[in-house]
Amino acid sequence: MRRSSDPGDSLVGLGTRLSRIHPYPAMVPDELAMSLVNKFVPPDASVLDPFCGSGRLLAAATEASLRVGIDTNPLAWLLTQAKFAKADPQGVRAIIAEMAPAKLRSPKPGSLVGPTERKVQWFSKPVIEELSRIVLWLNSLDLSKNESLLVAAALSATVRDVSFAREQGWKLHRLDAASRRKFRPCPWDRLEKRLTYCLNELSKQGSRFGGRTVVKLGDSRGLARCEKSPVAKYGPFDVVLTSPPYGDSRSTVQYGAASSLCLSIVSHLKGFDHLRSTGGSIDSSCLGGTTIDREPWFSLKSYWSGSDHSPHAASVSKFLCDYDAVCDGLVDHLSPTGKAIFVVARRSTGGYRLKLDEFTADCFSRRGFTLLSKEERPLSHKRTPRLINRFGRDATRQNSASALVPTMNSEIVVVMARTSVRGAKRRSA
Ligand SMILES: C[S@@+](CC[C@H](N)C(=O)[O-])C[C@H]1O[C@@H](n2cnc3c(N)ncnc32)[C@H](O)[C@@H]1O
Repeated sequence: MRRSSDPGDSLVGLGTRLSRIHPYPAMVPDELAMSLVNKFVPPDASVLDPFCGSGRLLAAATEASLRVGIDTNPLAWLLTQAKFAKADPQGVRAIIAEMAPAKLRSPKPGSLVGPTERKVQWFSKPVIEELSRIVLWLNSLDLSKNESLLVAAALSATVRDVSFAREQGWKLHRLDAASRRKFRPCPWDRLEKRLTYCLNELSKQGSRFGGRTVVKLGDSRGLARCEKSPVAKYGPFDVVLTSPPYGDSRSTVQYGAASSLCLSIVSHLKGFDHLRSTGGSIDSSCLGGTTIDREPWFSLKSYWSGSDHSPHAASVSKFLCDYDAVCDGLVDHLSPTGKAIFVVARRSTGGYRLKLDEFTADCFSRRGFTLLSKEERPLSHKRTPRLINRFGRDATRQNSASALVPTMNSEIVVVMARTSVRGAKRRSA
């Protein structure tokens, strides 16, 4: 495998549109997104990202003729839509200008918005009252669809900012009691800051996208059932450019908990009630959550060295079966000269690395594709610890010699292309 210091060195400092509108787990760094587009997405190509997350890879493909994103997490749908919304900077400026008087005058809400079903408190009482007033005020404005998307994404980021969730990392950990008592954020000020960021970005970058963008809230496992594919009518695609989850969402990334916290407030905005979801429902709709019925063609041992009897074996296998189903569907959505570019990493599950790069290459190879290149790059933007204790809080084992394991420190770009046009025709015949 080739090692690269940083394939996008010359792009450092440049950003994709509205890149920092909202934190999101495992975002592809801007410079990597832009360098992959420079290399693999010709102008006027059609691009599919079946795990679009915050939409960075699609946002980097500014000159594509068609960008299609799919994600099962409603928060990802919202963020990607917001990035492509053609909001008028004047309209956003007017919303910001109305905030100060609204903060003074807006009435006390009759009822509070927020996560009633949660056992622990994620907001102080004054914060939830102010968030409720903000929602009431925003719902009284006559916003265009594009403005609403931008405002909803900015509000979602604000919700996270003013919650008791610790700032570092994406997993939902609460501030300790002493920090909670001292934490007195002003939701209005935070929202103003978030909207001002959006305004500056819009004024600087304008709407610089060519072509069309479609974002689907859905499950990419559906790609494997062609007649039910949510995006078949937009294909075949020239390029699949994506960064899949590196493990299932319950035991590794946990997209659900933090996303549903933000959505519990945002879904009270007019027109966004369909985004209301529990953390559990988001996690189980992610790969490995609930499996469609497929016999694995692979031996788990080739990609993960844990024991077959380990409690993790079944979940790793489920995750890979789901992942394989998506790859199967992607092959049918790619044009005969199409390429698939995957940004993956070797996340540790149960103390053992899952070789997702090798699994990805094998999934495509057995379906008529060739590995064009595989390149590893350091994860320079990582904010999480370099070492973790794989026995967590298990006091009997956490001091053992094998307890400390390094976390992911690199990501791998896997590029696959069809072996031959003939092979593609045979498959689609
Ligand atoms: C690594 S993240 C993508 C990050 C994205 N490239 C970015 O830069 O923000 C993986 C995404 O896959 C989504 N996902 C997981 N399972 C899915 C499924 N079955 N169908 C569609 N999306 C799924 C998750 O919700 C998550 O947003």
